[in-house]
Amino acid sequence: MLAQKRILLILGGGIAAFKSLDLIRRLRERGATVTPVLTRAAQEFVTPLSVSALAGEKVYTDLFDLTDEAEMGHIELSRSADLVVVAPATADLMAKMAQGHADDLASTLLLATDTPVLIAPAMNVRMWEHPATQRNLGLLQGDRVRIVGPNSGDMACGEFGPGRMSEPLEIVAAVEAALGGQGPLSGRRVLVTSGPTHEPIDPVRYIANRSSGAQGTAIAEALRDLGAEVVFVTGPASVPPPQGVALHRVETAREMRDAALAALPADAAVFAAAVADWRVTSASDSKMKKTKTGLPQLEFAENPDILAEVSGLAEGRPGLVVGFAAETDDVIENATAKRARKGCDWIVANDVSHATGIMGGSENDVTLIHADGAEDWPRMGKAEVAARLAERIAEAIGADKS
Ligand code: CTP
Repeated sequence: MLAQKRILLILGGGIAAFKSLDLIRRLRERGATVTPVLTRAAQEFVTPLSVSALAGEKVYTDLFDLTDEAEMGHIELSRSADLVVVAPATADLMAKMAQGHADDLASTLLLATDTPVLIAPAMNVRMWEHPATQRNLGLLQGDRVRIVGPNSGDMACGEFGPGRMSEPLEIVAAVEAALGGQGPLSGRRVLVTSGPTHEPIDPVRYIANRSSGAQGTAIAEALRDLGAEVVFVTGPASVPPPQGVALHRVETAREMRDAALAALPADAAVFAAAVADWRVTSASDSKMKKTKTGLPQLEFAENPDILAEVSGLAEGRPGLVVGFAAETDDVIENATAKRARKGCDWIVANDVSHATGIMGGSENDVTLIHADGAEDWPRMGKAEVAARLAERIAEAIGADKS
C-alpha cells in the first residue's frame, strides 16, 4: 500500500507515455498522491488535461510558469515528494540526468531533488543498446537511481528487443520496493562482492573461473528489497547486475579489494565473489606470440584476501561479515576451518563439485556456519537462498536491533 505517499511523476516524451496514465490510476488506487510533470515532448503524446483528470492534481509543464513558481517553487516541488518516478524515461531524459542538465522543468526537478529517484526507461532497442545509453545507465546506477525494466518484446517501431517500458503494475511494485523504507534493513548499508575476477596474462588472455555472479546478484536484490542500501562490487559476471544498488564494476582481485574497502563503513558485508587466489606476475603488456614464446612459463603471486582483510579490520569492521566457501571435498570441515582462518562471522558453505551443477546453475545447496554451529538448508533456487540469507542478516543487524 502507498497510503500517504507523495509521488512526483515525470512523464518523458515517448509512445509509452500512454501507459503512464494507467500507472497514475494504479498508484492512486493504492493511496498515493501523484503530482505529474510533463516534458514538452510528453505533451505530444498525452495531454495535460487527461493527465490532470486522472491524477486529480495540477499538472506542471514549464519551468518559467510564474504562477507555478509563486505557488510552489521547483525546488520545493522536487523535495516535497517521497519518491520521484520518471516514466517513461527516454534516452534523452536519461542523458540529461546522467550529465546533470537543468534546461527544463523536468531536468531541473531531477537535479534539485534530494528524494530517491526511480526511472522506467522506454526507447527503441537500438537506442537502449547504444553505448551512450548504457554508459548513462551506469552513471545513473552509480548515482543510486533505481531502475525498473525495460522489458524485451515487440516495440511500437516494429523492432524486437529490450526497450519496452515496464508494465504499470511492475512499476508499482518497484515504487513499493523503493518506498520500502519500513523494511527491516532500511538505513542499513551492506557491501556485497560478486562474480569472478579476471587476472590478465597479456592484453587478450586472462585467468578466470566459472562463477556467473547469480548468487551474489540475488543476495544484493534480496537485501535491497528489505530496504538496505547495497553497494555491489562485481567482477565480470555473466548475469546482469541488480537494479537499484550502487554498482562498482571491477576486473581483478586487487581492484575488487580497493572497491570493497572504499565502500566501507558498512553495517554488514557479504563476500559472494569467487576471487582468483593468484594473479600472474609475469603478465605481458603485449600479446604473447606463440612463435616467439614457445610454451609460456607463468609466474604467480597470491592475491590479497579481501574477506580476511575486512574481517580483521581493527577499525571500521562491518558489524556482520559473511563469507562463502565453495568446496568440492569435506565441505563442512573445510568451511568451518575457513571461517576461523578468515575471521568472518558466518560462512555460507556449498559443494561446487561438477556433479552438483551449482557453479553457474540456478540452484544452490548451502550450509550456514556460525559460532553456534552449522545449519543445513535444503537445496533451493539461488533467489530463495538469497531471500533467506537476507532475512537472517536483517535479524542480526536490522533496524529493530539497533
Ligand atoms: N575471498 C576473498 N578474497 C580472496 C579469496 C577469497 O574475499 N582473495 C572470499 C570469497 O569471496 C569467499 C571466501 O573468501 O567469501 C572464500 O573463498 P574461497 O575461494 O573458498 O577461499 P580461499 O581462501 O581461496 O580458500 P581455498 O581456495 O584454499 O579453498
